[in-house]
Amino acid sequence: MQFKGRDVIAVKDFSKEEIIHILDEAEKMIPAAKGLTRLKTLEGRILCTLFFEPSTRTRLSFESAMQILGGGVIGFADPSGASVAKGETLADTIRMADAFGDVIVLRHPLEGAARFASEYASIPVINGGDGAGQHPTQTLLDLFTIRQAKGKIEGKKVILLGDLKYGRTVHSMAYALAMFDVEMIFVSPRGLEMPREVIRGLSSIGVTPLETNNLQDVIQDADVLYVTRIQKERFADIEDYLKVAGTYRVDLELLKNAKKDLIVMHPLPRVDEISREVDATPHAWYFKQAFNAIPVRMAILKLVLEGEGP
Ligand code: CP
Repeated sequence: MQFKGRDVIAVKDFSKEEIIHILDEAEKMIPAAKGLTRLKTLEGRILCTLFFEPSTRTRLSFESAMQILGGGVIGFADPSGASVAKGETLADTIRMADAFGDVIVLRHPLEGAARFASEYASIPVINGGDGAGQHPTQTLLDLFTIRQAKGKIEGKKVILLGDLKYGRTVHSMAYALAMFDVEMIFVSPRGLEMPREVIRGLSSIGVTPLETNNLQDVIQDADVLYVTRIQKERFADIEDYLKVAGTYRVDLELLKNAKKDLIVMHPLPRVDEISREVDATPHAWYFKQAFNAIPVRMAILKLVLEGEGP
């Protein structure tokens, strides 16, 4: 397995064995992520975070992960404060980050931006979310969370619920779950179904998820309910958004029909798709999932900068 110097653009670029190795490495990072030990693994190395779109979890957890590993962080959280605002191209911005840092995390509104950036950088580029495309490090921490909660990923029944059209986390997640022999069910409001391109990609490897618009029909025997927000910012017309806003909601009434050990996950931020009353139930795993960003992103940074070894 070769991780050193590697870009992290899409889940599909990694084998199942490589994904399991990242999760195993993340497991070892938990004591440091909880502040119980201190590490100098990446002392003197610099992470450059280039965020052209808003973020709380991805940016802050990457920055935290780098600092826990002893490294430093530079970058911007808003392109209005960078020379992009003066007309600098993405290619030139990437060239600068390449000169100033050792690894780049890029979030960008355009699908394909991370792959494009990787062509201009000699250092590893990590995709922190590219438009409605992919969010591979989110998927890795999602897999880590399922394994933590259920002991294994294989053979589980997983519902992906919500805006499957524009939600990049579910695109990455669908490809990853297909590698783990998971029974997938896609539930979305009409018009926000999983893109046919993803369905065709899954079909080409012999995976045919059930697709439905009705969560009530499929909740009973699910092991994982992965909820996503409607991606308001990706709608060209606000009227189209208003037609689907509020069309699904996970609440205590719905969960009465679920298995006692069903876990509810969400990449966050949530708006109104999970009722606050669910937070106090054993079903709620979304805040533990958010914490898992730290050990998983520590493992990713360590592997792409240092590779294997102590
Ligand atoms: N899950 C996630 O990507 O959250 P942010 O948009 O806050 O980074």
